[in-house]
Amino acid sequence: MAAQVMGGPLVQVRDLVKTFAGRGTVLRKSKSQVQAVAGVSFDVLAGETLSIVGESGCGKSTTARCVTRILKPTSGSVVLFGTEISQSSQETIRPLRRQFQMVFQDPYASLNSTMTVEEIISEPLIVHGFPALEIKERVLAVVQQMHLHKSDLTRFPHQFSGGQRQRIGIARAVVMQPKFVVLDEPVSALDVSIQADIIQMLEGLQESLGLAFLMIAHDLSVVRHVSDRVAVMYLGKIVEIGTNKQIYEQSSHPYTQALLAAAPIPDPRVERARQRIILKGDVPSPANPPSGCRFRTRCFKVQDICSQVEPLLIDPGVGHQVACHFPEEINLITKRRV
Ligand SMILES: Nc1ncnc2c1ncn2[C@@H]1O[C@H](COP(=O)(O)OP(=O)(O)OP(=O)(O)O)[C@@H](O)[C@H]1O
Ligand code: SF4
Ligand SMILES: [Mg+2]
Repeated sequence: MAAQVMGGPLVQVRDLVKTFAGRGTVLRKSKSQVQAVAGVSFDVLAGETLSIVGESGCGKSTTARCVTRILKPTSGSVVLFGTEISQSSQETIRPLRRQFQMVFQDPYASLNSTMTVEEIISEPLIVHGFPALEIKERVLAVVQQMHLHKSDLTRFPHQFSGGQRQRIGIARAVVMQPKFVVLDEPVSALDVSIQADIIQMLEGLQESLGLAFLMIAHDLSVVRHVSDRVAVMYLGKIVEIGTNKQIYEQSSHPYTQALLAAAPIPDPRVERARQRIILKGDVPSPANPPSGCRFRTRCFKVQDICSQVEPLLIDPGVGHQVACHFPEEINLITKRRV
């Protein structure tokens, strides 16, 4: 039975773990365990955007799918709107689904190709028993909001570009007027010019509907202007979380610093002058993560202790949490840069 937790943040995730059975190899028939999410905790407050950023395979989509209960977490707690749902039955969760929605990573695969746009956008309203007149009104309103045309309603997904498909996916998610939307890399499959357009549209929707977003991206620059807070993930764990300013101007974890250094700066003089931190090698397999700090095999600050003791995610008292034995001095940076 779902436990009720009154007040507090809209979404509360604690010690979330998701383990998959890995594939055996030719030499080793026994299946390994892949810990895709290895103990992740965060809150999402009403009306805010929390972004989760990290390289491919670090567990972002798995986290999103556990939070929306598309996947059942192996352990840990997920509290949505005061209700603990991590192990609840789909029947218990169904009434809550009106209040949270998910936009999927791939705009080409996530829409049913046999349905018209009108059918796709109306579907969740029909499932939740809305009257026909209200369905029509809501669908028309959301189509306008997403800068689609009324005549698009009778067309099929394959007749649209990637950007338009993503707008249809977002329309489908917001037509229910939810409180919370998870967006799994909503723009990464799109051209840069279309990315900006969609991001701007999402900001408009957030303002008009008071939505909270959990936004997923693999590039820090994509979510820079839309995030209130950012969590940086590496190999199944959050290594740094803070406000937009703390992450982009006062980053403390070597991995965040490396990701920021990899993002291009439009001004060529600034680009030439800045210090480059090169991220070497690939992300290790989550089936066999490094001992101690999971980032140690690629870290430019690594020392002996890093392979022996796992650094905990610590909040030094300024709402900025970092998991590193040798973090950049947050308070000193604040003094220097404010
Ligand atoms: N159903 C599954 N079965 C087995 N392993 C899985 C499954 N889903 C994900 N994984 C593994 O879990 C890890 C995390 O995957 P996930 O899709 O969450 O990463 P991601 O951060 O979203 O990556 P990307 O940026 O490429 O979308 C990967 O190693 C992936 O291969
Ligand atoms: S704990 Fe060590 S290896 Fe890990 S990020 Fe910090 S300095 Fe690098
Ligand atoms: Mg993903």
